[in-house]
Amino acid sequence: MAKSPSFSCSACGNVTSKWAGRCEACGEWNTISEDAGISTGPAKSLGARRGAAIVLTDLATEEPPPPRTTSGIAELDRVLGGGLVPASAILVGGDPGIGKSTILLQAASAFARSGLKTIYVSGEEASAQVRMRAQRLGLADAPVKLAAETNLRDILTTLEAEKPQLAIVDSIQTMWADNVESAPGSVSQVRAAAHELTNFAKRKGISVILVGHVTKEGQIAGPRVVEHMVDTVLYFEGERGHHFRILRAVKNRFGPADEIGVFEMTGKGLAEVLNPSALFLSERGEPSPGSVVFAGVEGTRPVLVEFQALVAPSPHAQARRTVVGWDGGRLAMILAVLEARCGIPFAGLDVYLNVAGGMKVTEPAADLAVAAALLSAREDAALPADTVVFGEISLSGALRPASQTENRLKEAQKLGFTAAIAPAGGKPLGAHGLSLTTMGDLTGFVGDVFGA
Ligand code: TYD
Ligand code: MG
Repeated sequence: MAKSPSFSCSACGNVTSKWAGRCEACGEWNTISEDAGISTGPAKSLGARRGAAIVLTDLATEEPPPPRTTSGIAELDRVLGGGLVPASAILVGGDPGIGKSTILLQAASAFARSGLKTIYVSGEEASAQVRMRAQRLGLADAPVKLAAETNLRDILTTLEAEKPQLAIVDSIQTMWADNVESAPGSVSQVRAAAHELTNFAKRKGISVILVGHVTKEGQIAGPRVVEHMVDTVLYFEGERGHHFRILRAVKNRFGPADEIGVFEMTGKGLAEVLNPSALFLSERGEPSPGSVVFAGVEGTRPVLVEFQALVAPSPHAQARRTVVGWDGGRLAMILAVLEARCGIPFAGLDVYLNVAGGMKVTEPAADLAVAAALLSAREDAALPADTVVFGEISLSGALRPASQTENRLKEAQKLGFTAAIAPAGGKPLGAHGLSLTTMGDLTGFVGDVFGA
């Protein structure tokens, strides 16, 4: 029987039986392409015993958790959940040019120096180029093996022969399986390569780190299709104009998600930033209207960032809402709550919101800082420069206590802040050394802080 063709979406990985201009699963346009020759049957055995069920309680006594290997790059180890787990598959995604090859070459050297037999397979650069980069990074003497290959079969043969404990494959878009007809970088190639590599790694007990480029348009087969196949997904983020880069765990079977590692791009590769709050606040000047410091938490680590807002009468028929580093939908929600619950309208006013330094904030606990920045800009009244703000705003205008309050306050105190504004309620706090003002709702906040 002839195999019916299958099509998949490069943005979300949805598989359909016919082509369409728009993916019915995620709504993206021009992301559907045909999968050539890839089997849709069940995956090969991963080497696990089949058929026999085990009682969960039996597992507990069977084996202790596998020892993790730490690289010594603390920012990386934390994002991995405390080091590299043997036979785990990791995807590192990010925009082209953001520094993925750089960080992974540094990681390869660090893991090799920690005693892991490591091989770095580059499909983008010749071994000589990788060596030159290593030299520039001061890593030329690290015991890492290099290979420049793009054919999947050759790579698997190399891995079979070398028997490494860690294999880094840069990048999954350049890999090419000769049993799949479509071009390298297409969804079916990316999926086939990722599938083969992760399967092989699990079978042989090798850890693999796959590099994947993401493009804004999602035209090139995004690493999205690979996300489901791996244990851990890390994204490497950063703005072109800024030096710092963030490695963020968005999925981790072996540790907490949302954990971040902060790095700075220097002439000698990526340097760890051990105190990100100080970095993000370093460009802060005199207290100015619209500027508010948010005491945030990323994973287990407190990070202070500055929100900046600008509110001005709009020359346009429809007022603008522009936001960088924060969710646009969430901004609209806060504007609506300010209007409906506190009677402060923003109609006819352009609103610009920015997180200084190019950081992306996703915590709802930043709501109150955003509201404070908007009000401060609108009223042209600066908040005291030594104050941090945090708390989630509900649609009713009530403030909800944030997680890890004590952690946030301690970090603020460490950076020289003396006061904090936070929601009332929540757990009792230990010593933190700040003068803390708590509020139950947004109306109280507006009255107390802005006298409105
Ligand atoms: P790269 O790791 O090649 O990015 P990716 O693999 O994500 O495409 O990094 C590319 C950028 O990093 C490039 O613009 C140059 C810069 N860079 C430095 O600033 N310092 C360095 O030591 C290195 C190696 C790169
Ligand atoms: Mg690269």
